[in-house]
Amino acid sequence: MNSLNDLVTQYHSWCNHLYFPQEPCNLYDATRYLLEGGGKRIRPLLCLLGNDLFGEMYEDSFHAGNAIELFHNCSLVHDDIMDSSPLRRGKPTIHVKYNTSTAILVGDILLVNAFSHINKVQEQYKQQIYALFSATILQICEGQQMDVDFEEMDIQQVCYPQYLKMITFKTAVLLAASIRIGAIIGGADVQQQAYIYDFGKNLGIAFQIQDDYLDAFGAPAETGKQPGGDILENKKTALLIKAWEMSTAEQKNALRNAMSQNGTERISAVLKLYKACKVDEWAISITAKYTAMAFSCLDMIDIPLNRKENLLELTNQLLARRS
Ligand code: IPE
Ligand code: IPE
Ligand code: MG
Ligand code: MG
Ligand code: MG
Repeated sequence: MNSLNDLVTQYHSWCNHLYFPQEPCNLYDATRYLLEGGGKRIRPLLCLLGNDLFGEMYEDSFHAGNAIELFHNCSLVHDDIMDSSPLRRGKPTIHVKYNTSTAILVGDILLVNAFSHINKVQEQYKQQIYALFSATILQICEGQQMDVDFEEMDIQQVCYPQYLKMITFKTAVLLAASIRIGAIIGGADVQQQAYIYDFGKNLGIAFQIQDDYLDAFGAPAETGKQPGGDILENKKTALLIKAWEMSTAEQKNALRNAMSQNGTERISAVLKLYKACKVDEWAISITAKYTAMAFSCLDMIDIPLNRKENLLELTNQLLARRS
């Protein structure tokens, strides 16, 4: 069995070998610029850990991990256009540094390249992984559309179950698929695959609620994103939806008023109300609750406890993340 740090190092050296052509330079420079930004690379790591849980490590998990990370970067560059985000990983986003046309094309290049890495997986598993990966990408597009649709809707029109469905699609299913793909390669049976998928889904829900929290309360130097971006974009985040539910009539009026302001005034007024109704504390506790639900799914898998240690370590690191 590998340690978590070993796997991180192995994947980092593996993904450093990704190759892109030189011409047209604006297209491929922008692609390299995005990938060099790094990020946490938790999805390929989950894929490796899914493999590690059930058997010896196969190269296929590194190919699949690359596919997943390339697609994830595709989703980010397109997401930043949709969300009008100026910053990602502490640097100007592609559509700002280059332009929107290039950003769309960078996403397309990454998507096609992602599938070329799935193609490297041995025949025995390729069809199954291809089907899961494709179905997951479609769900992510659907979740992203829900996210965009919710921006135009009034706060009263979006309830928490709808939010949970939206984040399950836009975020959680990719974490779930990542670890399931690794488990498939590691030789897990269908029941074990289902448990590990549910582990990833709960972890993914926790991950997105925490992302919403960090967007509002994180330190920009650590998140690498524009602070309060979700508030400016009228996003129906966990914080906004729950703050509305938890507010008194008077606070609801104040929240509407705050949301009608512009720029930094809007951000500070909304944050003040979030604190007043204690939705910040709620977000931290619900993140822990979904993480605990993920652990319960892991408990269902009948393998020695020491094989699960890496996954427990990563999950605990994610709970404490600030970026
Ligand atoms: C950002 O994902 C998009 C979400 C699903 C919240 P990450 O937080 O994993 O982004 P990087 O890859 O580490 O930058
Ligand atoms: C993005 O959610 C999910 C996908 C990229 C599919 P967010 O819009 O909250 O992610 P960030 O905060 O920009 O990273
Ligand atoms: Mg975004
Ligand atoms: Mg978004
Ligand atoms: Mg976000």
